[in-house]
Amino acid sequence: MGRPCIRAVVRNVIESVKPTTKEYQTVMNETESLLTRRFYERFGGKPQVSLWAPGRVNLIGEHTDYNDGYVLPIAIGRRIYAAGAASGNDTVTIVSGNIKGEVVFDINRIEPSGDWGDYARGIVAKTRREQRPLAGFNAFFLGNLPIGAGVSSSAAMEVVVCYLLQKLFGYSIPPAGAALLCQQAEHEFAGTRCGIMDQFVSVMGLEGKALFLDCRTLEFKHVPLSLGDYSLVACDSRVERGLATSEYNRRRAECEQGVRILAQRFEGVRALRDVSLSQLEECSTLVEPTIFRRCRHVVTENARVLEAIEAMRTGNVEKFGRLMNTSHDSLKDDYEVSCAQLDLLVNTARSVRGVLGSRLTGAGFGGSTINLVHNSAIDLFQNTLTEAYLKAFDTVPRFFECVASNGAEHAR
Ligand code: GLA
Repeated sequence: MGRPCIRAVVRNVIESVKPTTKEYQTVMNETESLLTRRFYERFGGKPQVSLWAPGRVNLIGEHTDYNDGYVLPIAIGRRIYAAGAASGNDTVTIVSGNIKGEVVFDINRIEPSGDWGDYARGIVAKTRREQRPLAGFNAFFLGNLPIGAGVSSSAAMEVVVCYLLQKLFGYSIPPAGAALLCQQAEHEFAGTRCGIMDQFVSVMGLEGKALFLDCRTLEFKHVPLSLGDYSLVACDSRVERGLATSEYNRRRAECEQGVRILAQRFEGVRALRDVSLSQLEECSTLVEPTIFRRCRHVVTENARVLEAIEAMRTGNVEKFGRLMNTSHDSLKDDYEVSCAQLDLLVNTARSVRGVLGSRLTGAGFGGSTINLVHNSAIDLFQNTLTEAYLKAFDTVPRFFECVASNGAEHAR
């Protein structure tokens, strides 16, 4: 049998189940040569650098990051790969093998344009403002990270550009600084007042480990992901996250409103991270019901992350699954960021024998669910969800297994 063509190999990774390290390395090398070829075809020269940044799924700790709380995401083996070279002038040209249209701009005049290039524009603009070494460059992107599936393709794009600039122009930003730069670029150029989770794990994810991050201090710990015979399988609802930016920013503002009231009552409260459930309950008549529920989600979700870490440490996979379920219920009822499609996927998953937990992952309003599924039940799980989803929404969901992988910092 002849060698499979590169495209087939890359596609294979896209749908793959746990590749071995050797297979993985082969695919990485092949992806790199495909990138180099595509770069050459478009720009007529060799790239000077190539690298990648991953997407993520969050296992638990949703909408806690911008409340100074805890999160537990993993970086996944789906990435944006980039090859780049200095252009020799002030123009940046970025081409993607996955998205139509070239992004072209001058480093001296950068304005948001409302397209996917804004993630790159934001990073370049911030880099310029911080007076780091910078010049025009050409870049080719290729990825196996689904866009709009709630697995942080935007953070991966920001991080890949941030590391591309460091490599091309010869400087190095410490990991937390790189993540913060990417987060600020997203605030300014994409208009989402996101927290730090996505960018941080895209930088600092580690193979086989989840990242336990304290979003106030940015202290973190890599926690061994011991799931026994269980796997993490994402299910993409394919629902466009239309309201995501406005509703996301609104939730953040609601939390801040809650903090203002709680801070008057309790000394030392700077964020919902500082509030216990009993303190919140004491204030139930002072806080408007909607705001109360938003706060309750955040306060209980922070506690769930700590319990989940303990469950992971003691190998209690069942408990971990139960916490995932409670997290989803709280996101649905108290935080109201789920939707009918995600709820159907979650409820159907929970009805499958061998599924220990199911919840939406990421901001919500569409995107994906993350499921803890026994290896022997993966086919049954996929078939059951596909059938139910097709029947209810006339759509085939997309599945991908999530293997904890390295972040951009470990791919330097
Ligand atoms: C998005 C944001 C993150 C985080 C999640 C919700 O992914 O980018 O900062 O707030 O939503 O947990």
